Amino acid sequence: MEPVTRREFIGAATAAVSTARAYSQIRGANERLRIGVIGCGGMASGHMQQLVRMKDTDNLELVAVCDIYDKRAQKAAEVTGGKIVKDYRKLLENKDIDYVLIATPEHWHAQMSLDALDAGKHVYCEKPMTHRVEEAKKVVAKVKQSKGLKLQVGVQGMSDESYEEANKYFRDGTLGKVVIAQIDYSRNHYTGDFFDYPIDPDAKPGVNLDWKAWLGPAPKRAWDPYRYFRWRCYWDYSGGIATDLFVHRVTRIIKALGLTFPEKGVATGGTFEFTGSKNEIPDTTNYLLDYPGGPTVILISSMASDTPVNHVLRGHKATLEFTRTGFTIRPQRGYAKEIQEIVYVKKGAEDIRLHHRNLHAAIRKNEPLKCDCMLGYYGVVAVEVGLESYRRRKYMKWDQAKERVVPA
Ligand SMILES: NC(=O)c1ccc[n+]([C@@H]2O[C@H](COP(=O)([O-])OP(=O)(O)OC[C@H]3O[C@@H](n4cnc5c(N)ncnc54)[C@H](O)[C@@H]3O)[C@@H](O)[C@H]2O)c1
Repeated sequence: MEPVTRREFIGAATAAVSTARAYSQIRGANERLRIGVIGCGGMASGHMQQLVRMKDTDNLELVAVCDIYDKRAQKAAEVTGGKIVKDYRKLLENKDIDYVLIATPEHWHAQMSLDALDAGKHVYCEKPMTHRVEEAKKVVAKVKQSKGLKLQVGVQGMSDESYEEANKYFRDGTLGKVVIAQIDYSRNHYTGDFFDYPIDPDAKPGVNLDWKAWLGPAPKRAWDPYRYFRWRCYWDYSGGIATDLFVHRVTRIIKALGLTFPEKGVATGGTFEFTGSKNEIPDTTNYLLDYPGGPTVILISSMASDTPVNHVLRGHKATLEFTRTGFTIRPQRGYAKEIQEIVYVKKGAEDIRLHHRNLHAAIRKNEPLKCDCMLGYYGVVAVEVGLESYRRRKYMKWDQAKERVVPA
């Protein structure tokens, strides 16, 4: 027998440990999943309401809730029956918790996801997966290193099967070369400002709210209720329309067309209507992102006009239009004889229950995630190309070798 070298021995032992670890992270098909909630604001309230309803049908338990604003933590504890934990790191020490829902503002997503994975927890992280590309790289690396931990990104519509179905018609050639994909996310506001989330006068830093803990990895600032309640409007915590809304839209296009990283992109927009706003972010934003060899993805949004734009994949042979009920494929004139009109009626919906159930199936049965960390990463890169273009007034590109967004 050949003698086993030390390197081979360590390699084999590490592989065995990794396999055992990955195996141990897959829960039995019917085992109870225990959840911890980090960040109990607006979006988490929706999640908690649904998860409470799913407790018996899906065998779930909401074990602990964490927020730096006491009022929100207390409300969450009442709704879920979970124990209040003030510091999320303490929540992560709880061995009973299988997965954490991270529903904090964007600037916390990366650090909390990394800490949760280090603590051996599966993660459901609200979108965008991270605030910046640099952070997304670290999260992807950590998920891969974990060999078995699941990280689901909470992008809207990912567990609606329409986008996977659309991908079949793209791959089988029905659409022909898709040259343009267009999609919007528009709203209107009538109070003189946009993203005008209410300011709760009960919030008192140092009394019932830990402002320093909220700021976390973001630059230090004096307490500002606008920043706390309207964090989407400030670059330190968000990309505004881009990371709050475009990420939902671009990720569907990425899924439907099997895209990865954009090659280059440019953004336009500005604060055109709400000129008296304190918000740093523009009220109107448009991106043009070129993916290698096509298509150009057009993202359109305004917070001052909600007239919609059709969500369309424009192919050389046929056009696919997403509708409320699924999608329709119509041939281009020259292919009318070859391609029949197709109407696809979807079974799923934009439903966070489906998205949690998908994570449960991934944890219990190792089923694939509908929005895994790679899809999360592609979405973060797409919005950062546009964001950097807007902020620098420059055409930007994706440098694949350096994995960075750089001037084109
Ligand atoms: N999928 C969707 O449709 C959708 C919709 C809205 C929001 N979101 C996402 O959900 C996330 C939260 O958004 P929101 O609107 O609920 O914001 P929010 O401000 O209402 O809630 C965030 C909560 O996180 C808490 N928090 C901040 N730092 C914390 C810390 N260190 N420890 C514990 N708690 C902390 C805050 O106190 C706050 O209660 C964001 O990522 C947002 O993009 C997704």
